[in-house]
Amino acid sequence: MTQFLWGAFPYLALSVMGVGTLYRLVLRPVTWSAKSSEWLEKRWLRWGSLLFHWGLLFVIGGHVMGLLIPMAWYQAAGIPTEVYHLVADMIGGLAGLVTWLGSLILLVRRVGNRRVRANSSFADFLALGLLFVTITLGDMETIGYNNIVGPYEYRATVGPWARELLTLHVNPNLMVHVPIILQIHILFAFLVFAVSPFTRLVHVWSFPVRYPWRAPMQYRSRTRYLERRAARREDVPVTGTPETRRGD
Ligand code: HEM
Repeated sequence: MTQFLWGAFPYLALSVMGVGTLYRLVLRPVTWSAKSSEWLEKRWLRWGSLLFHWGLLFVIGGHVMGLLIPMAWYQAAGIPTEVYHLVADMIGGLAGLVTWLGSLILLVRRVGNRRVRANSSFADFLALGLLFVTITLGDMETIGYNNIVGPYEYRATVGPWARELLTLHVNPNLMVHVPIILQIHILFAFLVFAVSPFTRLVHVWSFPVRYPWRAPMQYRSRTRYLERRAARREDVPVTGTPETRRGD
């Protein structure tokens, strides 16, 4: 079971993500969008999205620092383990809470708002639901486990496991004694990676590289537009405010 969960399953999930994302990008490009539901409900989307995305930016930063940078580099830089965990717990904990609150708002909005719910697909609920569970478990580990049981040194187990996974010589035995909350957190995270090509999460791969060169969007005032159209019809020059022209 250890060999499957921490050896085969992550590669399976990452392969589905890679192949699925390429398939969508190359063969189904019209479906490549975040499909915003802003036109259905704006206020909670703004709060939920801001909290979620800003929080996640810091959480991702924390994962890079905690998983991809070896513990030895911190020691070589003279950063004691206690200081590392204190900072990681405080910033990670806060960022984790902000991300959690944002994902909760987005989930409640999608389930609770009638119009948004009616315009949501199964994939939308699946993506948000899996993300919410993954984030909740991450916070339970960082805020709960670390402060109740004591700081867990994941840089000695999960860190090397993640780096060896990425360099294709994974050691599943590194994960055997990892706290169960963290194990489930990571398994759910790989589930999120696996379903991402079939959901609106594909937008994370959209880098607006062409944005600076896009054709300028023309905005024009609706009233002026209607004025001109009316004038063309009446062949009357356009002057004064709209009110006066309505025969007042
Ligand atoms: C969808 C992907 C993921 C999301 C949304 C996510 C989210 C979170 C959040 C919100 C936290 C708590 C705040 C923090 O400490 O930063 C956390 C902690 C953590 N996550 Fe993740 N995570 C994801 C993927 C992963 C993966 C793939 C791994 C390992 C390979 C991982 C390992 C950890 C570890 C070790 C902690 C810290 C636990 C501690 O402080 O003791 N996460 N994650």
